[in-house]
Amino acid sequence: MPIRPIRPRRSVLYVPAGNEKALAKVATLACDAVIVDLEDSIAPQAKAAAREAMRAFVAGRAAGGPEIVVRINPLSSEWGTEDLLAARAARADAILLPKVEGPRDILEADEALDDTDAPLELCLWAMIETPRAVLNLGALAELARDAAARLSCFVAGTNDLVKETGVRATPDRRYLNAWLSQIVLAARAAGIDALDGVSNDFRDLDAFARECAEGRNMGFDGKTLIHPAQVEPATRAFSPDEDELSEARAIVAAYAAPENAGKGVIQIDGRMVERLHLAQAERVLARAGR
Ligand code: COA
Ligand code: MG
Repeated sequence: MPIRPIRPRRSVLYVPAGNEKALAKVATLACDAVIVDLEDSIAPQAKAAAREAMRAFVAGRAAGGPEIVVRINPLSSEWGTEDLLAARAARADAILLPKVEGPRDILEADEALDDTDAPLELCLWAMIETPRAVLNLGALAELARDAAARLSCFVAGTNDLVKETGVRATPDRRYLNAWLSQIVLAARAAGIDALDGVSNDFRDLDAFARECAEGRNMGFDGKTLIHPAQVEPATRAFSPDEDELSEARAIVAAYAAPENAGKGVIQIDGRMVERLHLAQAERVLARAGR
């Protein structure tokens, strides 16, 4: 299993690298992570300029801010390799690979990073947005169990999944859910994070809140976002609530008590608690954020 500190990834905002105003806005936002996008939100003739803007933004980040991820173009495209090397040189926290089809895409990026002696802390995130990616989730999860593969997060690409799989995009996402649940399951098998796809309708915050609640219930760790108005509701929806927090604190405290040292199963207020609940409780506390 990959051993990396648990970082909350509740609210993860896409920012087009070509949008100077949006990049400047990031400093005012309390999102857990930012994905600086070089792919779908950048037109072909603007790719080179966007890459330079990304470089300046990532290199100039302030300490203690959000996790900084760069979504590059596919390595098979004319821009991909240069994007990857630029993100690496600028010291991004992670590189998000679009249109991943299977383990080979991850290994290719991993090798390119190894060639630059990139530290293993530089992670790869994978967009799951094609039918082949969904079919290959088991193999991707197996690969992610090896920390050397750098894979630390699956990101649902819901717009592409709708387009590529032919499901109808109903407001309740009932057909899309068949693909989304597989992404969560694979992430759990791998011990990595899974992020829900974006809500395009950024003015309808009621619908957004419903979608966040649904993503949370499905087991996602957070949601990818397209607009600043979505940051606060997503952070709230994917944070543990007061009841979960106090339960988690009680479990951690109970196992820390000397009389429970070495015990597997214990009881707290008449409820059975096992060591597996301790791991879960620690995860809840880590997810509560900075
Ligand atoms: N990140 C950071 N800031 C953003 C932002 C984003 N994703 N989207 C909007 N903003 C900023 C705007 O620059 C504006 O800033 P200001 O207060 O300094 O004027 C403010 O938030 C309000 O924006 P608004 O006028 O409501 O929206 P817009 O018309 O500027 O932008 C979109 C709408 C959809 C074009 C924009 O939100 C966007 O590009 N989102 C991301 C798209 C993307 O990355 N897609 C690929 C992944 S799916
Ligand atoms: Mg996409």
